Amino acid sequence: MKKIAVFTSGGDAPGMNAAIRSAVRTALYHGVEICGIMGGYQGLIDGNIIEMNSQSVANIIQRGGTILKTSRSEEFRTTEGRVKAAVNVKKYGIEGLVAIGGDGTFTGAEIFCNETGITVMGVPGTIDNDLFGTDYTIGFDTAVNTAIDAIDKIRDTADSHNRTFFVEVMGRHAGFIAMDVGICGGAEAILLPDIPTDMDELVRFFTTDKKKQKSFSIVVVAEGDDAGGAFTIVEKLKVLIPEFDARVSVLGHIQRGGKPSAYDRLMGSRLGSAAVVELIEGVTNKMVGIVSNELILTSFHEAINQKKKVDVSLLKLAKMLA
Ligand code: F6P
Repeated sequence: MKKIAVFTSGGDAPGMNAAIRSAVRTALYHGVEICGIMGGYQGLIDGNIIEMNSQSVANIIQRGGTILKTSRSEEFRTTEGRVKAAVNVKKYGIEGLVAIGGDGTFTGAEIFCNETGITVMGVPGTIDNDLFGTDYTIGFDTAVNTAIDAIDKIRDTADSHNRTFFVEVMGRHAGFIAMDVGICGGAEAILLPDIPTDMDELVRFFTTDKKKQKSFSIVVVAEGDDAGGAFTIVEKLKVLIPEFDARVSVLGHIQRGGKPSAYDRLMGSRLGSAAVVELIEGVTNKMVGIVSNELILTSFHEAINQKKKVDVSLLKLAKMLA
């Protein structure tokens, strides 16, 4: 291969810049030209493509977000959009693509590979950590630490006022962020999409003697919980326990920003480089992942269609320690 391109797509995640830097410098190391596509698939459709060199990725390893910008392109979901994208791939002499993103990105990549035969390798980058075929997705560690930092602060005010807080974290349909944040934030309860939320149990919890001995409590709620988000659950509890009083804090997009942790920089560097090496060797339609600290490949098809499961046995640990 003489020329490849890299882009980020879907929700940004801390560590994406480390992956871009790694992809660019690995390509150059192997004597392959590399360009950047601005704004994900939409940039590919619009021909928003820039040349990159070693200097283009200087001083970015420590930065959150993505220097290549990102989007959730509606147009790429259409055949017409993908045809325009494929025309630009040819026009710019690009022989392979490195796509950094999550399941939406790889859903698009799989269709694009199958329809056009264009070579694409994926790098898992999403704070949700919900991709099958990898123990880890870039951004998760930083997001969890950001949420824990917020919870530590919430604890101060919860303690001072003897209050209960329901803290909602991101994760879309998955509970990986909630599980780790709940355990590391010392939550009394963790509500995940993976386990149906038992409102009666919550009522028992908030009306038992155990609760009465505690001056304050933190409940971590995954945004995708089956009983609803934190606001909905608190409203339901107010109906069931008339005197119930709690505050809700939805952490939202702060979880996506900020300086990437050392782990996210390391994973970005390893996975970004591995994707380029595989791409140069002609591998396509696959995501590079990390399983038991070993780099492995998983087809886009499996990565998006198989379900990665949260280790729900950790809830027992969380309960015991709460
Ligand atoms: O996939 C990453 C993520 O942050 C999810 O946790 C969240 O549900 C979603 O993206 C939010 O998307 P948007 O930034 O489009 O609001």
